[in-house]
Amino acid sequence: MWWKDAVVYQVYPASFKDSDGDGLGDIPGLISKLDYLKDLGIDVVWLSPMYKSPQVDMGYDISDYEDIHAPFGCLADMDELTHGLHQRGMRLILDLVINHTSCQHAWFQESRSSKDNPKRDWYIWRQPRYDASGNRHPPNNWRASFGGSVWEWDEKTQEYYLHYFAPEQPDLNWDNEETRKAIYDSAVRFWLEKGVDGFRIDTVNKYSKPAEFVNAPVTEPGSAWQYAYPLFCNGPKMHDFLKEMVRDAMDPFGEVMTVGELPCTPDAKEILRYVSARERELNMVFHFDMVYLGMGTVWKYIPEPFDLRDVKTALGKWQRFIQGTDMWTTVFAENHDSARSITRFASDAPEHREASAKLLALMLTTLTGTLFIYQGQEIGMVNVPREWPVEEYKDLETQNFYARMKDSTGNDPKEMNAAMDGIAYLARDHARTPMQWDDSENGGFSTGKPWMRVHDNYREVNVQKQLGEHDSPLMFWKHLISFRKQYHSLFTHGLFTEYGHDNTALFTYTKTLDNCAVSSTNGESMETIETKALISLNFSNSCKKVYLPEDCKAATIELAISTKDGKVESDTLGPYEGRVYWVR
Ligand code: GLC
Repeated sequence: MWWKDAVVYQVYPASFKDSDGDGLGDIPGLISKLDYLKDLGIDVVWLSPMYKSPQVDMGYDISDYEDIHAPFGCLADMDELTHGLHQRGMRLILDLVINHTSCQHAWFQESRSSKDNPKRDWYIWRQPRYDASGNRHPPNNWRASFGGSVWEWDEKTQEYYLHYFAPEQPDLNWDNEETRKAIYDSAVRFWLEKGVDGFRIDTVNKYSKPAEFVNAPVTEPGSAWQYAYPLFCNGPKMHDFLKEMVRDAMDPFGEVMTVGELPCTPDAKEILRYVSARERELNMVFHFDMVYLGMGTVWKYIPEPFDLRDVKTALGKWQRFIQGTDMWTTVFAENHDSARSITRFASDAPEHREASAKLLALMLTTLTGTLFIYQGQEIGMVNVPREWPVEEYKDLETQNFYARMKDSTGNDPKEMNAAMDGIAYLARDHARTPMQWDDSENGGFSTGKPWMRVHDNYREVNVQKQLGEHDSPLMFWKHLISFRKQYHSLFTHGLFTEYGHDNTALFTYTKTLDNCAVSSTNGESMETIETKALISLNFSNSCKKVYLPEDCKAATIELAISTKDGKVESDTLGPYEGRVYWVR
């Protein structure tokens, strides 16, 4: 189970590195940075969609699973990437986007061509409803993830098709066996045969649709479309489908790494079915409790307040959840769908930015589970400035939200200002600005005009500068990754115990050896055994005394690492300082 100890780095191809000056990142650009990733200590690259796509949703709308979006490169580039990673002892996982395709996919083109086309049933088509006055309506009131109805009217064949996301992303009909087999062949086997090592599985709990599309409860009176997200998820045949896919399309290739995107699944029993090793479905899933903090429940970008206690609850839940079971979990604070973690969970004020980057790094690298880092996180990239106008935001989710707010408030300046506050805080775009490599024009990302504006701070925050500073966030991440590997039984596999939950400034926990986990990971060459660590993290801008739990008081405490490098003072943490102590 190599994937348990892996440190995974997510690459968003459009924004990582442009090799040919067209302003868009590409596969050769990524290949040119493999030594950088190896040097950082990365074991696995997760590449967000690079497939052929009209890019309505940045590649999560795939028009051919077996081809590459031409501006990103070609199949030969993918072979070179896989080879380059394997040669360096690293692995590659791809994004498996199989809840829906693009409306440009040949399967959908056929499906929509006529009601009796053999592929009609590969997507989900329904008759309209008519009201008493004879007006046509979609089958139900569900609102799509990016706004509007989940149903799109097809003029030619006079039926609606289902799309949980954008209208250009029609949902596949997994109830049709022929469709499932085609998905396995084209999206899964094709790539495993080419040597990729696994998949991050997009929106993994939505393939099985409900038998009937009943209306969602009305949470937004006056609106035609209602929040229905929980109804999208965990349909009746979800587990049968996953088991079949793993058994038929993945198992024949040996140990294939799988990590599912699992939103909206609060029920522990349901989660157990996805990730218990004995169920043979997924290795692990992403739990979104932390990443969802601050997001509005009805409208994602109308923020709701939270504090450190909520962060502790969100993280602690999954740390404890797997203890004593055959399940496994993930540790992450960022991805391409979330704003930057420093801005959201610590402080992006210039005087605290680097400390915050290191504090979060220390937290993530000492928690149990497979660790995922998102590009730019290692140099402490932060949200774009509040002054940026909405035109700089390229994501359709942001644009749709803004347009809807404009519409519903009659472009009221106060309301629109609040909408922009929400966007500046939570939009997905913050993760999608180009990677900051150096202080040359466009942050060294591209010699052409970047598809999205480069963050204004690239001269202060970039890879080249941080490589030359021994106490930079980048060098600290590098050090922490090797520290985590050196003590992997304790940090990657250990038992988590939290203290002082109600403290809104300090996050205190211990990691202790899990005897079962130690025996299962024996044989790792880098292992050094310590049996207990105390982690003390100050999430405030003032000094705080380290909290020493009762069960550590009689022990000898020795400082192992601090975010402040050599400048550690007594038992008081500076603003946004974090420390690890050995407890012996
Ligand atoms: C997942 C992806 C997101 C995308 C959506 C639709 O949530 O992470 O980026 O928009 O699926 O495919």
